[in-house]
Amino acid sequence: MNLISNEAVQPFDFIVFGGTGDLSMRKLLPSLYYRHCEGQLTSDGRIIASARTNTDTAGFIELMEKEARVHIEPEHFNEDHWQSFLQRIHYTPVDVMKPEDYQSLVELLHGREDRVRVFYLSVAPFLFATICKGVDAAGLITPESRVALEKPLGRDQQSAHEINDQLAESFDENQIFRIDHYLGKETVQNLLALRFGNALFEPLWRSERISDVQITIAESLGVGGRGGFYDTTGALRDMVQNHLLQLLVIIAMEPPASVDPDAVRDEKIKVLRALKPLIGQEAIENTVRGQYKGGAYADGTVPGYLDEKDIPADSDTETFVAMRAEIESWRWAGVPFYLRTGKRMESKTTEIVINFKKVPHSIFETTDGFSTPNQLVIRLQPEESIRLRVYVKAWGDDIQLKPVHLNLDFNDVFQKRRMIAYERICVDLIRGNPTLFLRRDEVDTAWAFIDPIREAWDKSNDSVKPYTAGSWGPSAANSLISRDGFKWYED
Ligand code: NDP
Ligand code: BG6
Repeated sequence: MNLISNEAVQPFDFIVFGGTGDLSMRKLLPSLYYRHCEGQLTSDGRIIASARTNTDTAGFIELMEKEARVHIEPEHFNEDHWQSFLQRIHYTPVDVMKPEDYQSLVELLHGREDRVRVFYLSVAPFLFATICKGVDAAGLITPESRVALEKPLGRDQQSAHEINDQLAESFDENQIFRIDHYLGKETVQNLLALRFGNALFEPLWRSERISDVQITIAESLGVGGRGGFYDTTGALRDMVQNHLLQLLVIIAMEPPASVDPDAVRDEKIKVLRALKPLIGQEAIENTVRGQYKGGAYADGTVPGYLDEKDIPADSDTETFVAMRAEIESWRWAGVPFYLRTGKRMESKTTEIVINFKKVPHSIFETTDGFSTPNQLVIRLQPEESIRLRVYVKAWGDDIQLKPVHLNLDFNDVFQKRRMIAYERICVDLIRGNPTLFLRRDEVDTAWAFIDPIREAWDKSNDSVKPYTAGSWGPSAANSLISRDGFKWYED
């Protein structure tokens, strides 16, 4: 696995369907710009954007100046690099529903069949199959082609299955790259390094030593301009099925035999398969769903979910989910995994907390009664750090213990610009390295865990629990964890 490598990629054509959209402007184009600045993109590598918007390359560049450039951190923006980056950009209008529109791509790509060809589908999932058929019918798929699909792949196991079948008609499985951008985050890869590059943690990484694991992905933003998409999706499909389960899997997986992509993915899927199903009443008792009401942050008030753009006034879509999951394996039996995610929470924070068990018999007094034993906090956002809570002797005559933190702040250690997840994703796509992408069976198994929860909610008379924007979610999320004698980690 190329955890860190700045080697130049092969010559390529990177075709972005949905090039004018939010993801393309906020993440993909800035990511490719950063990789361009690092000298990682070969000189004849081209970025070909397309969408229905009727404009030309000059018009698209104008749009990029307004919408993509602002997402490049000012301290890392360099006008010369930007101008040379723009030389790579091409735009051609394509309505993917119209077979004749693919002709412009045929012309643009003609004579470059030996280059790597990435078809990046940055469009709504219902267009995935149409685009695959379209590029296939236009004869654009070469042996060096790959297709990249954004999440969520489908709405449930059945629809994911159908999409995957349709993709398989045009692309081989090894040409299909299913994205979960959390796997592109540096700290997520660091988790693998931490677990499998250090002998220290392995003996402790099991139910005999760990009391519970907590994974939180909290966002302070609301649904923004994505109301239409979000209201038909909800937090369970948008965040739990993919990002939260992927973090859980990386924490819980057994050591793979090698860094071979399939060796890693074989171990990941074993965890998904070992998740205890949450069906019917079990799903209701072990999950909490919430929806934000208006509230206040330091910089002003924000509207509730029902007052956001494109949200029906009676929507019961969840913007928050908390869950108690269990993994039925020798390593993890009896260890609860508490997962939670929400929009409009107090702050943007992604962190994984591993709580270790108390010492079996304490010979010391402590300043806090061993209220929280040793704890490993792996923070992915806003800053990346790893923090280990240990007890030391407090200053003074008595031997009394006090908790302190051993801190590893990645900014201090590496003092480099933090890569955004999509940089690695774009580079791995060109390289054809599938390690950080999801295999068909992973997506399928993740939906198999999620679908019964959704069904139980749909049948239940309980509605979503309101929470105030700027809080940590509905109080029921605290009850979910406190009934086991634990509490959510607070910094
Ligand atoms: P947007 O709605 O902002 O963009 C959609 C893009 O698709 C636009 O460029 C639109 O351009 C184009 N498009 C729509 N219909 C057609 C068509 N018939 N033919 C050709 N192009 C078309 O969506 P996002 O960028 O937010 O999301 C894209 C994908 O990425 C989705 O699958 C989403 O779930 C996923 N995603 C998005 C994230 C984000 O932060 N935005 C994060 C993670 C995943 P035009 O109207 O000009 O045709
Ligand atoms: C996306 C979700 O996959 O992840 C969004 O669709 C969410 O709703 C985003 O805001 C969060 O990603 P990050 O990298 O900002 O934590």
